[in-house]
Amino acid sequence: MNMERRHIVFLTGAGISVESGLTTFRGKDGLWNNKSWRFLASTEGYYKYPQDFLDFYNWRRKKLAEAEPNRAHRLIAELEREYQVTVITQNVDNLHERAGSTNVIHVHGNLTKVCSTKSPHDPRFVEDYPLTEPIRLGDKAGDESQLRPYTVLFGERALRMEEAQEAALHADVFVVVGTSLAVMPAADLVRYVYKEVPKFVIDPKEVMACEAMGFEAIRATAGEGMAYLVERIKSGAIGIKACN
Ligand code: APR
Repeated sequence: MNMERRHIVFLTGAGISVESGLTTFRGKDGLWNNKSWRFLASTEGYYKYPQDFLDFYNWRRKKLAEAEPNRAHRLIAELEREYQVTVITQNVDNLHERAGSTNVIHVHGNLTKVCSTKSPHDPRFVEDYPLTEPIRLGDKAGDESQLRPYTVLFGERALRMEEAQEAALHADVFVVVGTSLAVMPAADLVRYVYKEVPKFVIDPKEVMACEAMGFEAIRATAGEGMAYLVERIKSGAIGIKACN
C-alpha cells in the first residue's frame, strides 16, 4: 500500500448543517416539503415570482447569519493540520469555511455571495454580500441586471464540477456526510472514486447509492460520525499517512 497516500475528500450535504440549526431539503421537516419553496428555487419560479423568490432567499440568508459551524464542520477543518483535505459541498452555507476549512468546492453556489441575473455564472459579477442585508428588486449587479443570490437553481448547471471530479479521482479516503445523493450531477461524484479507496458514508439513515457501492456506513449524526471516523483515521486503522 502506498503509505504516502494522504488526501481525504468529503462530499457534504444539508445533513451536516442540521446540528447548526439549518434544515435539510427532503427530511421530515425538509425545505422542499413546502412545494412553493421548491418551485421558487427554480429558474421558472424566480422569473415568475421574483419578489417571492427574493423574500425566500433573504429568509434563508438571515437564518444562515444566525447559524454557527458545528462539531462536524470543525472536525473536518482540523484534519487539515495533518492531511490534505478537499471539501466538496452541495450546501450553500459557509459553515465549512467558518469552521476553518480552506479548500471548499461549492457545486451549488453560496448564499454569502450575489451574482447577475443575466449571467449568473460570470465571475466578474459574483461578489460577497452581507447575509443580513436583504437583496431587493431593483438592486443591480455589475452588468446592470437584477442582483440575485449566487446559488444554483433547479434548471441551472452545477458549478466547479470538473474540480470536484478531479478531487474525487485523487481521493485516498472518500467520505460522504449528510446527503441523500438525490441530485445530479453532485450525486455522480461517488463514481469518480477508485474502487480500492476506503469510502465512508455518515448519515443516521441508509444512503442506498453509497451502500450499493461498498461504502462503509457510519449510522450516526454528522458530529458523532465524524468523531468516530477521526479516531479511526488517527489510529492508523484506515492506512492513510499524515503528511506533517
Ligand atoms: N447528520 C448527518 N446527516 C443527517 C442529519 C444529521 N444530523 N440529519 C439528516 N441527515 C441526512 C438525511 O438522512 C439525508 O440523507 O442528511 C441528508 C439530507 O438529504 P437532503 O435533504 O436531500 O439534502 P441534500 O442531499 O444536501 O440535497 C442535495 O438538493 O435540492 C437540492 O440544492 C439542494 O444541495 C441540495 C441538494
